[in-house]
Amino acid sequence: MRIGFCQFPPLFGNIQANLDSLDSLIKEVEADVIVLPELCTTGYQFVDRNEVANLSEPVDGPTVQWARNLASKRSFSLCGGFVERDGDRLFNSAFFVTPNGDVHTYRKIHLFNRETELFDPGDRPPQVFQAQGTRIGMMICFDWIFPETMRCLNLAGAQLVCHPSNLVLPYCQEAMKTRCLENQIFAVTANRIGTESRVPGETLTFTGASQITAPYGKVLARAEEISIGCQVVKIDPTDADSKNVNPYNNLVADRRPELYPGLCGAKK
Ligand code: ACM
Repeated sequence: MRIGFCQFPPLFGNIQANLDSLDSLIKEVEADVIVLPELCTTGYQFVDRNEVANLSEPVDGPTVQWARNLASKRSFSLCGGFVERDGDRLFNSAFFVTPNGDVHTYRKIHLFNRETELFDPGDRPPQVFQAQGTRIGMMICFDWIFPETMRCLNLAGAQLVCHPSNLVLPYCQEAMKTRCLENQIFAVTANRIGTESRVPGETLTFTGASQITAPYGKVLARAEEISIGCQVVKIDPTDADSKNVNPYNNLVADRRPELYPGLCGAKK
């Protein structure tokens, strides 16, 4: 199976221009699953919730329609981020569309910084679904810092985690080695590049270095911090199936939830 990412600087507020950029980026890519950055058709730094609403789309809006058409035409699956509108709720969401037209969505559950004022927090557990013969889940950007996100996807059977991102902190790429090691799972972190300074006193520089990480934490591909382009690697998703560390230890079976009091409880 060929999995990849595309890294680029979205233009804030211009969905059609970003779809055009993605069309030309993806044109030459041969892959089975391609992951695009978080909020890849809108840009990231919204001034207020009105601006989020103005750039929001229902799941059958232009971004996901575009992705479905491309996935069907090119026979690959495509994952990326968009602003999802559901009634008057606004989510920082990811889509995953398959060549035969299936659409899966994920609503970011751990909102980062000012996102907490702009978006509604995701209201559903991360799901695992089957696509291209592989069990796949999604998380978005800052979800990485909560090990629970990827652990849930692992326990639900994921072999591959698609991870659209707009990273501004420098830690995620290194941390993904640990996330993939402790879960024995593949991950594609598709990050954006560029700078946005639309909010007084808040200049955001995105860290690029999109990365494909394998079980045992091996980095299979990493982009430059400022390059535009796509990278694809070949993997065997079944390499994520064994959770054995040695003949005596298994990463799932050896957990001792009865000795982790409070870890899985609801918030007080
Ligand atoms: C982030 O979650 N976009 C940092």
